[in-house]
Amino acid sequence: MLKRPPTICLSGTLYIGETHICGPLNLNLPSARWTCILGPSGVGKTTILRVLAGTATNVKLDGTLSTEDEKSLNGRITMMAQADFLMPWLNISENTAFGARLRGEKIDRTAVQDILTRVGLAEHLEKKPHTLSVGQRQRVALARTLLENRPVILLDEPFSTLDALSRIQMQSLSASLLRGRSVVHVTHDVAEAAHLSHQIFLITRTRSFHLSLGTAPPPPRRWGASETLSLQSRLLHLLMEET
Ligand SMILES: Nc1ncnc2c1ncn2[C@@H]1O[C@H](COP(=O)(O)OP(=O)(O)O)[C@@H](O)[C@H]1O
Ligand SMILES: [Mg+2]
Repeated sequence: MLKRPPTICLSGTLYIGETHICGPLNLNLPSARWTCILGPSGVGKTTILRVLAGTATNVKLDGTLSTEDEKSLNGRITMMAQADFLMPWLNISENTAFGARLRGEKIDRTAVQDILTRVGLAEHLEKKPHTLSVGQRQRVALARTLLENRPVILLDEPFSTLDALSRIQMQSLSASLLRGRSVVHVTHDVAEAAHLSHQIFLITRTRSFHLSLGTAPPPPRRWGASETLSLQSRLLHLLMEET
């Protein structure tokens, strides 16, 4: 059974060496909520995800990363990076099960096949990554992340290379499979944020702040519905005012 994700709070300023990267930030990530992070390129969004994932060994946090249960996120969190990091010598199935393989766990082949079918890659299980398109590779990386089955999921521009239709399909699949988990999702796509998020933070070099969702219904919000479109348009205006 899925463990309840803890509420997470990241507050403070991030540095690499003596260089200020971003902050002061104040990011409260409530349990089982989908948080989108918007912000210009180079502002530190990927660095924030790496700090949450515990992989940012070169980053200094002048502040705190705390969890509600005061336990480490180690083993409870997984990150889908901007690059797909597929291993060229492994086929698509093996790449999807890479986490379990790395940990020496038994691989659930049915679950691997099922998730690859759901991301539309059922015909490519035995192929090597170099034979796939960029969008297909990104869907393998998404499948690998979904298969990890962690309570806290970090997604760094996960749908950025997909065509319009696959993007909508993968957003819907992720919304459905990640219900009940905490998701932190970096995106440049305001429509995507309007569709998926319970809350949105805008990050600039010097601060983080909530973009109010007003009275919008809970996500996932229906594509093309007037309340989704009006939220999208309001977010765009806020973004233009604040950056
Ligand atoms: N390993 C590193 N060493 C030095 N600076 C880095 C390193 N990684 C990222 N940066 C710098 O940190 C800033 C934020 O990067 P990043 O988190 O990738 O931004 P974003 O994801 O918002 O585009 C950038 O100015 C980048 O040049
Ligand atoms: Mg980035």
